[in-house]
This record gives sequence, structure tokens and C-alpha cells, in this order.
Amino acid sequence: MKPVRIGLLGCGTVGGGVVQLLHENARYLASRVGAELSIARVLVRAPERERVPQLSRALLTTDPELLFNDSSIDLFVEVIGGVDPARAYVERALDQGRSVVTANKMLLALHGPALVDRAIARGADLAFEGSVGGGIPIVRTLREALASDWVVSLRGIINGTCNYILSRMSLEGSTFEAALAEAQELGYAEAEPSLDVDGHDAAHKLVVLAMLAFGARVSIGSVPVEGIRRIQPIDHQFAARFGFAIKHLAIGRDHGGAVELRVHPALVRRESVLANVSGVLNAIALEGRALGPCLLSGRGAGDLPTAVSVVADIVDVARARLHGTAGLDTRAIQLQARPVQPLEDLVCRSYLRFPVRDRPGVLARIAGALGECGVSIEQMVQQGSSSSETPVQIVLLTHAARERDVTRALLLLRDADFAVQPALRIRVDE
Ligand code: NDP
Ligand code: HSE
Repeated sequence: MKPVRIGLLGCGTVGGGVVQLLHENARYLASRVGAELSIARVLVRAPERERVPQLSRALLTTDPELLFNDSSIDLFVEVIGGVDPARAYVERALDQGRSVVTANKMLLALHGPALVDRAIARGADLAFEGSVGGGIPIVRTLREALASDWVVSLRGIINGTCNYILSRMSLEGSTFEAALAEAQELGYAEAEPSLDVDGHDAAHKLVVLAMLAFGARVSIGSVPVEGIRRIQPIDHQFAARFGFAIKHLAIGRDHGGAVELRVHPALVRRESVLANVSGVLNAIALEGRALGPCLLSGRGAGDLPTAVSVVADIVDVARARLHGTAGLDTRAIQLQARPVQPLEDLVCRSYLRFPVRDRPGVLARIAGALGECGVSIEQMVQQGSSSSETPVQIVLLTHAARERDVTRALLLLRDADFAVQPALRIRVDE
């Protein structure tokens, strides 16, 4: 059988992992597919950069025409990232009737439904296991294993960089900057790391999960997103005193008409499964109507874990091409436009940290503003003293309260003369 020829678009962290895995598992993969998998050409930006040693430098090019005009290429793998030029390349490949494997969650969150339609119209496959959860087979689980059930909710840690940073801060007392630099060095972070730490990467993944779990087509702009920049090592210490760990969560629930989708840091009970998912590990807890709870966990970022997912998609797409079968059956993805529930209706407990100047009456004014807005206090601690240069930290755990009431109270306190910085608010996920 003739080899299946792959056009590789991008060869950085993930692309390098794909090259390595295709090389190391070549015989095994050939026996699974029924033909050898061979890289025909590799599109990059800077060919002089150092690459994985398994890559023949003769395959590198900066000219996309050399790939798109090569009719011997059977399928494309897009691991460039971002929208431009990745979207144009994916569209061009699909328009040529060639299937595409991608790990690009930003592209899918912004243009996924249109790309799915395009793939269906051209009889090609669009495969994207690597786009969520790195090496965790969450996309297949939702598309295949749970095709028989309704997923009603999902909660997950789906950004490896955020989880790595929060874990290093909590377990080693690392600073945010030091932990982020390590995550970048390890190949976990996006080319633009603000996508990770400001929560957007997790939001992109949540939109992809909502497509598969709830059949929902939502606008990324309607998903409330918060990142982890303002969290400090002391927040982990205070959270632990209250019996919690701090995690960056993506949460989705199907409410019938609207879907609830949100991404933000959260206090989770210290004894819970998610609290104990550390470092680059991701975890996604699903609730199926008939299935009940189901948890998937594994390495959520990095070259080889992600390559496992990308190469699994290559295997499926290549097999389908060779044997004339449906492959990943892109037609099975059916989407309906759904509104996202406004966050202001959410009711939950909150962790509030106020960095303040230690003056008489400060505590009363904080309690007063919260009380005026109907937010009641469950626990309170104060750390620091007026003799020190650094601000005093007043930390509260509230009873369950409406989002809009907590927001209003924090607005009342934002410009108070005793406030050194605006309060940090973290929702409690029960
Ligand atoms: P990298 O930045 O490491 O690699 C990007 C690659 O794309 C590089 O080889 C780069 O070329 C090439 N490239 C960038 N712009 C262009 C362009 N205009 N024309 C041609 N080539 C270009 O990114 P990653 O490998 O980390 O990520 C790739 C994709 O995979 C992204 O969508 C990311 O979100 C996703 N992903 C990443 C994971 C990870 O752990 N890193 C995990 C899961 C998904 P050059 O090398 O010459 O600079
Ligand atoms: N930057 C992403 C993360 C890569 O840290 O989770 C995996 O999608």
C-alpha cells in the first residue's frame, strides 16, 4: 500500500512531538493504519530554528504553495496556532477535499461551526482531539463513547499552564512570574501566554467542549472569563485555612434553552478530586443523564501528550481514507445556536481578600457595604498589623449570595480611602 502523505503546518512544540511520535512508532502505526505514515513537507516560519532531530531539514519550507499544490499530500495537520494564517490554510485544505487534523482551540472556538460545515460540504474530516485536554481523549469520549447519552454538566481544569502555576504557588510558594517562566520552558504555555493566564485558552476549550457535549454553538464573547493573574501565594494559604484549594475551572451546564458557561479561578474543597489534580495535569468531570459522573484526567499540555492525540486523529483520518469509511464522521457534529446564561444570576459563596490600611472602622465599613447589598459573612480572618509597611489583609468567606450583589458591594468599596488595592474575589465551587 502507498504511504499516507502528511502536510505538516507548523513544527514547534506540538509539531515536534508529532514528528517524534510518527518516527518512534512508525512500524506500529503502519500496521494499525495499513500503510506507512510519511511526512511529505513541513511549513514553518523560520527554517533555521533548531528542531527535533527526527525531522529531516530537507522537508522544511516557508512556502505554503509547495504543500497546497502537491496533490500527493493526503491530509494536513495544522499546529501553527491562532487564526491567521491557520484559518486560511485549514479552509484551503478542506476546499481541496483533504482532511485536516488540528490542535487549534482558538480557531475552533472562533470558527469551528463554519469549519465543520465546510468539511461536511467537501466530504472531508476535521479532527481535533488535541485541542482540549492535551493527551486526554475527551473529544472522542464526547463524540463516541457518550453518543448514547446526554451530558448535562462538565467541570474541569483545562489549562495546564494555569494549573502548573497555581500548583507551584501553592505547594512551593513560587511567584507567579517564576512559575509562568517554568511553564513556558516546559512547552505548556501558548505562544502568547496571556491566553493561558487570563483564562482565554480555557474559554476556547470550553466552547469546543460545549459544541460536543451540548451541541451548542455559542459566541466566545458571551462566555465570562477570568484568569489567575491576581492570585498570590497568600491566597492559597488563606484558602487552605478555610479548607479549600484554588483551581482555575471551566464550568458548563446545559439548562435546556440557555447554556451556563464560565471560566474563572475557584475555591474547591481540599478533599475533592479536582483539588488534587496538580501541575500540568488536567481533569474533566462529566455528568451524563444516564451515565452519572465520569472523570477523565491526564497530562493536559506538552509536546508528546498532545502529539498522542494528534497522531491518533491522523491514524483515524488515514484509515478512513484508505478504507473508504467514515473516519471521525464530521457529519455527526450537529450544532444549534444557544444563548449563554448571564453570570449575574449565579448564586455562590465567595472568598474576598481586601488589602487595606489598618485603621479604626475599616472592618465595619467592609461589613456594612456587604450587608447593604444583602451579602452575609460566614468567616473572617485578618493578617498583618498597622506597624508594618505592607497592607493588612482582611479575608472573608461569604454565605451564598447573588453575583450581582457581591459585584455591587465590591464597587461600593473599590474607591474607599482605606483600600490599598481593589479586593480580590474568588467564587467557591461547591
Ligand atoms: P509553537 O509556537 O511552539 O509552534 C508553532 C509553529 O507554527 C512553529 O513551528 C512556527 O514556525 C509555525 N508558525 C507560526 N506562524 C507561522 C506562519 N505564519 N507560517 C508558517 N508557520 C508558522 O506552538 P505549539 O506547538 O505550542 O502550539 C501549536 C498549536 O497547538 C496551537 O494551536 C496550540 O494552541 C495548540 N496546542 C498546544 C499545546 C501545547 O502544549 N503547547 C497543547 C495542545 C494544543 P517556527 O518554528 O519557524 O517559528
Ligand atoms: N497552553 C495550553 C495549556 C496548552 O497550558 O493548557 C494545552 O492546550
